[in-house]
Amino acid sequence: MAATLLSRGAGAAARALTFGCLRQLHIVYQTVELPETHQMLCQTCRDFAEKELVPIAAQLDKEHRFPAEKVKKMGALGLLAMDVPEEYKGAGLDYLAYSIAVEEISRGCASTGVIMSVNNSLYLGPILKFGSEEQKHQWIAPFTSGDKIGCFGLSEPGNGSDAGAASTVARLDGNEWVLNGTKAWITNAWDASAVVVFATTDKSQKHKGISAFLVPMPTPGLSLGKKEDKLGIRASSTANLIFEDCRIPKANLLGQQGMGFKIAMQTLDSGRIGIASQALGIAQGALNCAVDYAEKRLAFGLPISKMQAIQFKLADMALALESARLLTWRAAMLKDNGKPYTKEAAMAKLAASEAATAISHQAIQILGGMGYVTEMPAERHYRDARITEIYEGTSEIQRLVIAEQLLKQYRG
Ligand code: CAA
Repeated sequence: MAATLLSRGAGAAARALTFGCLRQLHIVYQTVELPETHQMLCQTCRDFAEKELVPIAAQLDKEHRFPAEKVKKMGALGLLAMDVPEEYKGAGLDYLAYSIAVEEISRGCASTGVIMSVNNSLYLGPILKFGSEEQKHQWIAPFTSGDKIGCFGLSEPGNGSDAGAASTVARLDGNEWVLNGTKAWITNAWDASAVVVFATTDKSQKHKGISAFLVPMPTPGLSLGKKEDKLGIRASSTANLIFEDCRIPKANLLGQQGMGFKIAMQTLDSGRIGIASQALGIAQGALNCAVDYAEKRLAFGLPISKMQAIQFKLADMALALESARLLTWRAAMLKDNGKPYTKEAAMAKLAASEAATAISHQAIQILGGMGYVTEMPAERHYRDARITEIYEGTSEIQRLVIAEQLLKQYRG
């Protein structure tokens, strides 16, 4: 089935992707020659985004509509569980592949990009890394096909950046954990069938008292807050998760008790590569839109692309985008090679998200009035870009992480 292009591991994916896609393949990125599998994956995702997402992205945004049918198609392509081994029904690819895919999908629709990123990095990621064999079979496999997606509950109304200050509590009662508290700003909340949630089992131990739990959705004692009305990424749902004496089996503890903060931090290291990639997609979409318009728009008898004022902007936009892409791929490759990548993921996310906001800002400037109306995608890129500097750690938090890692390296 053509739809399972990526679902049989890298080797099979390369062979399957050749079918139908290779003849259209041109040089994907001029900055670095990617392995053939990754180039083919890129082209497949680009084609998917062009055909399936670009035509409906504005409508999804307008209607705040979750793209359920597209998510299922992406599941069939293997895009929802990209680095999950085949034994758990994943695509068996690597994080570089994941980064490339999230970028291409986000170029078409940034909401779909974050839906994909949260399922891959924040939901499946920690289960794959810290789950028992039984948990992997139960909580991963059904979340690879697009029929079910997951979410990640860390932030709370009273603490976002200070993730160690979790006030949601989990109490052991016989063979069950009882959860109480509220998680805030949860991406995918209204559409998810499970959440990896963090709660404290011992407040006196601060971050060392936090544990991670697997909670099915819906489940008694867990309710959803209102769907937030957001500036951007409006086709993805964001809401509070409210736990009121929510009982889950004792076996739903993920990892060891008290390990939750480290699970969250390590998960976010990977997640930041996903958000960096989403930001790259938004930035590339905005740059494409600006170049296309500048070539066609005449002023003073010339296409505006011939004017230095516009050329300088385009040059700065391309520079910011391509540098951020290299940082993102470096972080992904370090992860793929089992090397530390906390600092590099933070750098990638910081550079890519700031590039996305700057590039989408300048794209509107180049389009002028046309950039400000919904007929063109530039205004959506501008709105979508903004969140990439906020979620999975604000730009300020990324700078703290980078500085801390840097100083650690200097101090030896
Ligand atoms: N990997 C492994 N361990 C880590 C780590 C990492 N990346 N970062 C910290 N740790 C460990 C430390 O080694 C330390 O361990 P010990 O207790 O054994 O010494 C422990 O965690 C505490 O570390 P810190 O003292 O550095 O922790 P802190 O309380 O000062 O917080 C922080 C550090 C970087 C600010 C962290 O709180 C943070 O990342 N905050 C941002 C939270 C965030 O990104 N939230 C995003 C929510 S999810 C989301 O946005 C999803 C979405 O919508 C799409």
